[in-house]
Amino acid sequence: MALAGIYGPDDLGHAVPPHAAPQTPGSIAVENPARALPMPSLDWTPEVERETAHLYERVKTVIPPIEWPFMAPYVKAINELKRERNAVILAHNYQTPEIFNCVSDIVGDSLKLAIEATKVKADVIVQCGVHFMAETAKILNPSKTVLIPDSRAGCSLASAITGEDVRLLRERFPGVPVVAYVNTSADVKAEVDICCTSSNAVAVVESLGSDTVIMVPDQYLAKYVASQTKVKIIAWKGACEVHERFTGDELRSYRQADPTVQIIAHPECPPDVIAEADFTGSTAHMIDWVRNHKPQRVVMVTECSMADNVQAELPQVNFIKPCNLCPHMKRITLPKILDSLVYMREEIVIDPMIADRARRSVERMINLKN
Ligand code: 13P
Ligand code: SF4
Repeated sequence: MALAGIYGPDDLGHAVPPHAAPQTPGSIAVENPARALPMPSLDWTPEVERETAHLYERVKTVIPPIEWPFMAPYVKAINELKRERNAVILAHNYQTPEIFNCVSDIVGDSLKLAIEATKVKADVIVQCGVHFMAETAKILNPSKTVLIPDSRAGCSLASAITGEDVRLLRERFPGVPVVAYVNTSADVKAEVDICCTSSNAVAVVESLGSDTVIMVPDQYLAKYVASQTKVKIIAWKGACEVHERFTGDELRSYRQADPTVQIIAHPECPPDVIAEADFTGSTAHMIDWVRNHKPQRVVMVTECSMADNVQAELPQVNFIKPCNLCPHMKRITLPKILDSLVYMREEIVIDPMIADRARRSVERMINLKN
């Protein structure tokens, strides 16, 4: 079904344009110099080579041997500091192979990372993803110290909408439930009825028992959900700057070049892209699809590092990589993760009143039975 309506900040008659506001008014990232540890040695030595050899095995098909001596000292130092700090690293599927495979404890899509954050027993969570993911971890496990190696790692979706926008939408559509994609600030999560991820968006919308639902902020995820349900969807004009760049024409040219190629796409892509895809799903569902189908050649229509990570696991699959990098995810690097653990930066701090209200929306999603 087509969308029942689509709104943006200009359609709501703001007294003051709120989009000059910082992306995440509900949280700040702070540093505490008193907690710093000495910076470990970063020399490439025979000992470093020996101790990281088993980790290089995991990534040798995607990281050339000439690059490993620059990465291995960081990998060793980060893994040692994790023990010293009693820290775990959560990493999104879009992190680069050396982070995803060599220093992370838990990897996954945003739903898995949110669920796993609730179970962490360690004192410190280092979130290798973007800011909204670190905020979600802090919301769900508030007694832990949650660090993000670079707090500028934002998201074009999270910055597309504010809590004030949600309040104005509720005034415009009284009684209509609001679903927020987890790619939103704590401030937005605090204003909505429930969150969703790309793994569970249709189930979340249908769980509300309403004939009309507002979905913010991704217009393309909203369009995809509208195509899968009878529920009328009112959408917001946000978009992912990585996925909105793919085009149906681009995918048709891959298919013309090789009619046997399989195309799998993320639901943040525009509808003409999804129409060309053999399968659409969240990053975790895309990975599972490749694991289960083991296609000879596959186009992964999503952020490029994910194909590298699956390639490292499944070297026999030939990945065609229409390479769109997420500039926010790419702010997270080994040197910044190391700094994060040495200096305990940057710590996510959320106003407890906002965090409490946001927690209700995220937990309602997590507690939904599939
Ligand atoms: P997933 O929930 O599918 O991992 O997506 C998160 C994201 O930011 C995709 O761009
Ligand atoms: Fe946000 Fe898109 Fe980057 Fe995901 S890929 S973090 S949705 S900008």
